[in-house]
Amino acid sequence: MQLPYTLLLSLLPLARAHFLLNSPPTIGFSDDDEGDYPCGSFDASSRTTVTNFPSGGIPISLTSTHPQVTYFYRVALLNDTNAWVDLHQPIAQVGQGKFCSQDVPGLAAWEGQDAVLQIAASAPDGWLFQCSAVKFVSGAATGPGSDCTNASSIKVSYVDEKLILNAQTTTIISGSSQPTQSVAGGSSTTQPASSSSTMGTPGAAASTQVGGLAILGTIIGTIGFFFF
Ligand SMILES: *[C@@H]1O[C@H](CO)[C@@H](O)[C@H](O)[C@H]1NC(C)=O
Ligand SMILES: *[C@@H]1O[C@H](CO)[C@@H](O)[C@H](O)[C@H]1NC(C)=O
Repeated sequence: MQLPYTLLLSLLPLARAHFLLNSPPTIGFSDDDEGDYPCGSFDASSRTTVTNFPSGGIPISLTSTHPQVTYFYRVALLNDTNAWVDLHQPIAQVGQGKFCSQDVPGLAAWEGQDAVLQIAASAPDGWLFQCSAVKFVSGAATGPGSDCTNASSIKVSYVDEKLILNAQTTTIISGSSQPTQSVAGGSSTTQPASSSSTMGTPGAAASTQVGGLAILGTIIGTIGFFFF
């Protein structure tokens, strides 16, 4: 049987890619060079397609082809694309496929400003980057489009980590003074977020060394969500 050409084309990126930014439109995607800071080898100042980003929020749709990934949603002003500000709590995804945050709020303080949205993804093969040209505006959420779906095979959880990643440094600060409630396997426990090493499921915790700080598996083996 021969697959239709268009179907083959649509399968291609999934077969090779690390992760895709489906929406808002990416500045550019190169599978080989997705690890190049800050925008996966594309020019952070590219304004070919600019998406209005209302304070109310936009959907951010991603596709991961890795069994696990942590997404960091960040923005920088167009005039300073090495000074990234967190837009949203990092999200850990287990399982391959689409993940869409329906209403990621814009930065009200930056209304009227040209900016760049960066998704920095921590994947087993290192850091990966995708960017989108945005402009912060006032207004209500645009609402999810048809590509805003979650694959049924994925599990996501919010991660209590702060990323400092720019041209000079890469550091993850794990935990905060906020207690985090984890719900896993039907039982519910509350624990200090700073002791993140205890949050992984036994036998499934992963450990990463970044900038001298140990980050113990808040990510892998975590089932369900954290609420705070
Ligand atoms: C970038 O623009 C903002 C707002 O217009 C301004 O406050 C800031 O100083 C500028 N930053 C640089 C590095 O030029
Ligand atoms: C995908 O899952 C996240 C986490 O549960 C949720 O916030 C989001 O609304 C879901 N997206 C869709 C399109 O249902």
